Amino acid sequence: MKLHGKVAVVTGGNSGIGFGIAEAFKNEGATGTITGRNQETLDRAVQELRPGFIGIRGDVTSGADLEHLFQATFERFGSIDTLVVNAGGIVEGSPMAAIVDVTEEHYDRYMDLKLKSSYFTVQKALPFLSEGASIILIGSSAAHRAAPGMTIYAAAKAAVISLAKGLSLDLLDRKIRVNTLSPGSIDTPVFGKIVPQQQVEQVKQGWKDLIPLGRMGLPAEMGKTAGFARARRRGSAAYPLVLPRRYPQRCLAYPPSAPPNPKVQPVSQGTLPPGYAGCPGSCRKGRTSASTPCGFSSNR
Ligand SMILES: NC(=O)c1ccc[n+]([C@@H]2O[C@H](COP(=O)([O-])OP(=O)(O)OC[C@H]3O[C@@H](n4cnc5c(N)ncnc54)[C@H](OP(=O)(O)O)[C@@H]3O)[C@@H](O)[C@H]2O)c1
Repeated sequence: MKLHGKVAVVTGGNSGIGFGIAEAFKNEGATGTITGRNQETLDRAVQELRPGFIGIRGDVTSGADLEHLFQATFERFGSIDTLVVNAGGIVEGSPMAAIVDVTEEHYDRYMDLKLKSSYFTVQKALPFLSEGASIILIGSSAAHRAAPGMTIYAAAKAAVISLAKGLSLDLLDRKIRVNTLSPGSIDTPVFGKIVPQQQVEQVKQGWKDLIPLGRMGLPAEMGKTAGFARARRRGSAAYPLVLPRRYPQRCLAYPPSAPPNPKVQPVSQGTLPPGYAGCPGSCRKGRTSASTPCGFSSNR
C-alpha cells in the first residue's frame, strides 16, 4: 500500500487511461477524486473505485468547473498529492483531419481541450497541492512522430510535453514534480468515439498491425507507469512511449515527386490506420477509404 494516506485527482478518470490510473492508485491505497462530464460513466467508475474515490462532474475547459473540482476535493480529503491531467481523447463532432479540412473552430476546440485545459487544470490545482506533490500530464506518442490527419492533436500534445518542462521549473520552490507520460496506442473507449461502433475492431487492428508487439497497450499498464512516474525519487522527466509502433510515413516524409529517402525502408505494403482521414501526399486520392494504400512504412 505505497499510496496509503495520499490524495489523487485524475481528470477523465471515468474512462480508459484515466480509469486505469485511478484504479492503480486505489489498489495502492490512495483516495481522491475522478472527473468527467458523463454522469453515468462517472457513477459506474466510482462504484469500482469506492470507498476511497468520489466523482465530481465537470468540464475541464471550464475554469469554474476546475475551481469547484479542486475546492471540493480539498474539503473532502485535504491537500492533493498527485494530479493526473488526463481528460481529453477526442473532441466530439470534430474528427481528426488533414489541414485542407480543418476549420478555425475545429483548431480552437482541439487546442482548448488538449492544451489550454491542461495548463489551467494545473494552475487551478496549485492552491490545493501539497509541497512535493506530483503532477502527471498525459502526452502522446503522436507528439514524437508524424501521422496523417493528426497534426493538431500531435502539436497540442507536443506542447503539453513542453509545458511539463517549464512547469517543473516554475514549481521548483514548492518541490512539485511535473512528468509527462506519452502513451502509444492504448485500448480504450476512445476508438468508439472516432468511428462507428461496427468499425472499432477494424480500427484497432489497423493500429495493432503497426505495433511490433502485435497488441495495444492497456489502461492498467498506464496505471503502473503512472505509479512509477509519481514516486518522489523519480524527479521530473518526460517518459516517452509505452509501446513502439510503425507508422506509414512516406506520404508525410516527402512529396511524391521527391527521391525516396534511403533511410526509410519499404517494409510492407502498409495501410493507413482506418478511420484516420487525411493523407496529404500520394495517398490523398484514397483518404476516405478504410484501407488507404500507403506503399512504404518507416521502420521506426
Ligand atoms: N488511447 C490512446 O491510444 C491514447 C494514446 C495517446 C494519448 N492518449 C491520451 O490519453 C488521454 C485519455 O484518453 P483515452 O484513450 O483514455 O480516452 P477516453 O477513454 O475517451 O477518455 C477520455 C476521458 O476524458 C474525459 N473528457 C473528455 N473531454 C472532457 C472535457 N471537456 N471535460 C472533462 N472531461 C473530459 C472523458 O470523460 P467524459 O466524456 O465523461 O467527459 C473521458 O473520461 C487523452 O488525453 C488522450 O489524448 C490516448
